[in-house]
Amino acid sequence: MRTETGQVVSLADYRPTDFVLERVDLTFELDPTETKVETRLIFHRREGADPTAPLVLDGDELVLTSLLFDQIEIDPGRYTATPNLLTIRDLPAAEPFEITITTLINPEANTQLMGLYRSNGIYCTQCEAEGFRRITYFPDRPDVLSVYTVNIIADKAANPLLLSNGNFLGGAGYGEGKHFAAWFDPHPKPSYLFALVAGDLGLVEDTFTTLSGREVALKIYVEHGKEPRASYAMDALKRSMKWDEDVFGREYDLDIFMIVAVSDFNMGAMENKGLNVFNDKYVLADPETATDADYANIEAIIAHEYFHNWTGNRITCRDWFQLCLKEGLTVYRDHQFSADQRSRAVKRIAEVRHLRAEQFVEDSGPLAHPVRPNTYKEINNFYTTTVYEKGSEVTGMIATILGPDLFKAGMDLYFERHDGDAATVEDFVACFAEVSKRDLSQFSLWYNQAGTPNVTVSCAYDVGAGLFTVDLEQVVPPTPGQPNKQPMHIPLRFGLLSAAGAPLAAAGVEGGEVSGDVLHLTERRQTFRFSGIAERPVLSLNRGFSAPVVLHFKQDSADLALIASHDSDLFSRWQALSDLALPVLCESARQTGGKVAAKGRGTKAKSAAVAADPAAAVALTKSLLSIVGDDSLEPAFRAQALALPSEADIARELGSNIDPDAIHRARQALVAEIARAGLDLFGQLVEGMASDAPYSPDAASAGRRALKNAALGYLVQAAQDPAKAAEAYDKADNMTDLSHALGVLVTYFPETEAAQAALGNFQTRFAGNALVLDKWFSVQASIPGDGALARIKALMSNPGFNPANPNRVRALIGSFAFSNPTGFHRADGAAYDFMAEQILLIDKRNPQLAARLLTSMRTWRMLEPTRAEKAKAALSTIEKSSGLSNDVRDIVERMLKG
Ligand code: ARG
Ligand code: ZN
Repeated sequence: MRTETGQVVSLADYRPTDFVLERVDLTFELDPTETKVETRLIFHRREGADPTAPLVLDGDELVLTSLLFDQIEIDPGRYTATPNLLTIRDLPAAEPFEITITTLINPEANTQLMGLYRSNGIYCTQCEAEGFRRITYFPDRPDVLSVYTVNIIADKAANPLLLSNGNFLGGAGYGEGKHFAAWFDPHPKPSYLFALVAGDLGLVEDTFTTLSGREVALKIYVEHGKEPRASYAMDALKRSMKWDEDVFGREYDLDIFMIVAVSDFNMGAMENKGLNVFNDKYVLADPETATDADYANIEAIIAHEYFHNWTGNRITCRDWFQLCLKEGLTVYRDHQFSADQRSRAVKRIAEVRHLRAEQFVEDSGPLAHPVRPNTYKEINNFYTTTVYEKGSEVTGMIATILGPDLFKAGMDLYFERHDGDAATVEDFVACFAEVSKRDLSQFSLWYNQAGTPNVTVSCAYDVGAGLFTVDLEQVVPPTPGQPNKQPMHIPLRFGLLSAAGAPLAAAGVEGGEVSGDVLHLTERRQTFRFSGIAERPVLSLNRGFSAPVVLHFKQDSADLALIASHDSDLFSRWQALSDLALPVLCESARQTGGKVAAKGRGTKAKSAAVAADPAAAVALTKSLLSIVGDDSLEPAFRAQALALPSEADIARELGSNIDPDAIHRARQALVAEIARAGLDLFGQLVEGMASDAPYSPDAASAGRRALKNAALGYLVQAAQDPAKAAEAYDKADNMTDLSHALGVLVTYFPETEAAQAALGNFQTRFAGNALVLDKWFSVQASIPGDGALARIKALMSNPGFNPANPNRVRALIGSFAFSNPTGFHRADGAAYDFMAEQILLIDKRNPQLAARLLTSMRTWRMLEPTRAEKAKAALSTIEKSSGLSNDVRDIVERMLKG
């Protein structure tokens, strides 16, 4: 299981360690550049293990300064130490022994942000997946669980706060200007859940009384002065704790739960036992500086990390191949939480949009991998949308197949049976198989087969016989390393609608399992026959997106319009609108590709969307406007309807020979068309959805803002005049409205005085606030068109651009690469070369960040040939560079393979 640089790790090679780690005592003497770490480990040889096997410990860039065996300096002949490995030989066959290791590390120089590092003067750690080995030599793998005591010694003035996992044991002065603190975590844990924080931070405190009446101290630490901005996070934490008790019966298990917000963090947050460390972007919020989306993210991520206490910490993963066991399940749990706190249907639509935009793209390209991969070269590259989001979908399908009661029984069994274990996906699935007495072996293919299944649907109705037949065929496309696929178990929620939009019930059904409103597709081809159907039904299939598949179902506009206006499932209504829009957009993009490119964005391009298929465009506009104007529907849903498929959605639907400029023109043309047709309605909505009440981040208020702002976007485009957006910018009294107005101004009228004035105003107004300035960088990075690259380069020399801060790099370079299709994919390939240069520079400092940014090019093969060639050349430049990190090498090699 050891990961040597560049080596492939295989699931099939898993075996337990030769030694059991009984306990861990760590003593840190913190210093910005020379931190001393003393590690005392008590081991015994596992029963049945080879009595002569050496103890092999992982390291990463470590300097060993002393090594003791049972308190005595060890003979140099008995061990070998390199920066990456410590091997100790001639160890006892049975009785316990103690190894004491001293290492010297440099937190200040740790720019990878893995292990112990400094962020704005704060000492903090990130150990998942393999960061602990950058602190000390250790069996750094998730199946080695142990009990930790941690002593921290540091300068008292600079570090009044000394934190680690578990419960506080005590503290005292410690010589000249120093002090120490001791922590003990009674829950056995793997090293990736270790955390240490030291520094000077402000505190927000509260308490929570658990189900069984225990009082838990809640503490959120943020930079001094930012305490008021942590109150929403605290509220979200308390709601999460309550929800996990109510819905999953899970209670918190320590006397204290701490969250620390830091400004330099590679990911969103980390679930270290009792001491979560967060990217401050997902903690800090107030109406003036955070958008509704920021609030929703904070709520979701606070919940996610808290929920890991059971799904991840109490039950952890046997090895990193099982990552989805904790991540997919915990995402499923945080989705359910958000759905309960907000609108379930709107939450589902947002989830599916995200899943398709990210996971479907990953699953259809060179980086496709199963939810539970079987090999990896760099585990950091597997914190993917497939493991997280598809992993959550797979959990959701178990719930759909079993129904709520059996799903709950299966979860209860999992918690009871595996508490304290390092478990596997098989362990998890077995619990559901057992309670439901269902054979879930075919279902388990969802964990092992990569690729998004394609399901082709056709229907026929025989009026004489009252028989409705549904033919289904599934094809799982080949993916890297998996040329041939087996048919999967695909649970499709469905309904039949009458011409009036009312539900139609069948007298009987043959051809496969149909339980309640779930149709189980298990064969490659399967025909379901519904009898006793009095009129031609309209099939609403994959309601609620019950299975993460691509449906190929040519429903005519009238049927889609019926579903859009009448289905009982809100998700399906949204989906039907999207299905009406996509063919119009795709056809228009195909037609305007190439030729119109030369003429630029003129009125010619605008009529293209309509010219492509007038009837479909009319049906779409009509359905869309009637939904958007329907006051009986919640505003957040109407806003989702107005959002239209994105440029990336259109690209995915087209699948190949992508010309991002043509897609952009096609979409803009449709937006203009809808804007014209809905002018009056949009005007009314901008007025009607406005509110004089003080800002509140609740879902209903956020929904009204979303609808108002979406309508405003259309109005401004219809008028081709920035004035209305400028007015909205001046009037805005919260960040949601302000940043939306700024976005409209800057995106559609970038060179106007109004846009420049707003940008200047925004920059000055929020000069001291890094998280808000990220928005300022990001909105400019996303301005479409060939001018984007020059803008990015100029912004990189802005004094506010800090290449060491991942949030800032993602705001500027990440927004450009991921959210600006026309700018990034400019036809001359200049942005690809720029990206290659940046990746190589960032890789020197922070490989994880570089590898993540590089995945922005994962769709390169779908591009039209000229762009694809240029993208490939840029990727080859990266591949040929010397001194690449394992992270970047792994991604670039996979992207170029085949
Ligand atoms: N477990 C964290 C979460 O809650 C993510 C940590 C990922 N860290 C990494 N270095 N890849 O999702
Ligand atoms: Zn997680």
